[in-house]
Amino acid sequence: MTCKKSSDNPVRRVFGRRQSRPLRKSQAEAFNTLLPVLCVPDDALSIDGRLTVTSLFKSLFTEYQLEIGFGSGEHLSTLLQKYPKIGFIGAEPFINGMATFLRDIKDKPHDNIRVHMDDALTLVHALCNTCIDKIYILNPDPWPKKRHHKRRIINQENLNQFVRILKHGGELIIATDVDDLAEWMVTQCSIHPELEWIAMSANDWKTPPKEWIETRYAFKGRSEGRNQTFLIFKKTLAN
Ligand SMILES: C[S@@+](CC[C@H](N)C(=O)[O-])C[C@H]1O[C@@H](n2cnc3c(N)ncnc32)[C@H](O)[C@@H]1O
Repeated sequence: MTCKKSSDNPVRRVFGRRQSRPLRKSQAEAFNTLLPVLCVPDDALSIDGRLTVTSLFKSLFTEYQLEIGFGSGEHLSTLLQKYPKIGFIGAEPFINGMATFLRDIKDKPHDNIRVHMDDALTLVHALCNTCIDKIYILNPDPWPKKRHHKRRIINQENLNQFVRILKHGGELIIATDVDDLAEWMVTQCSIHPELEWIAMSANDWKTPPKEWIETRYAFKGRSEGRNQTFLIFKKTLAN
């Protein structure tokens, strides 16, 4: 089984770094042994809109959740240990993040996780309609310069794809500590005809949802005085 690299796909590309420092021995070992076993195989990615999540796992799960851009994976690794009956898929193109995640889960049960070390959109485009219960996008890259806003992962084109793979009533869960990006994402999601913001009051977007797992990135932002905004949108029928 082989895993796809971004350079294999001329249409979509990942912005940002693929690797920073060299991997530590424990990261490299986990990367070399676990990635070939847990990655979504290439042939599964070449079938646009027809990939079933159930075909990726050896067992059936009660729900399927996707985390896009999981960084070093502390949110994902906590979830997959806590909910062994849920199947998780994590997408992260950054090699050091993927290696850290794989090292952290190596000696724990990990039958309920599959990973994609590339642009999440190559996976999202391959997945079939209404197969995912929750999509997490935590602290997406903010791309602060106006000319780079088109690179922001929350945009109408990508939302169409996220909504397509979400089950009815499924949730898109987003967090950021960048106020301008939070506003952008609220606007983008609110104008989407098949998404409904479930917030009733400011409290709902200012306080973490129950059992929220804080990432290292979010912890750092909070210790530097930046507050997270928590946004949960539910897939509804189009207006
Ligand atoms: C600011 S970091 C946040 C990491 C993590 N979610 C957290 O909260 O700690 C954004 C992450 O998104 C990843 N990313 C950016 N574009 C992506 C894409 N198209 N598909 C998957 N991951 C992506 C980056 O590699 C990076 O690790």
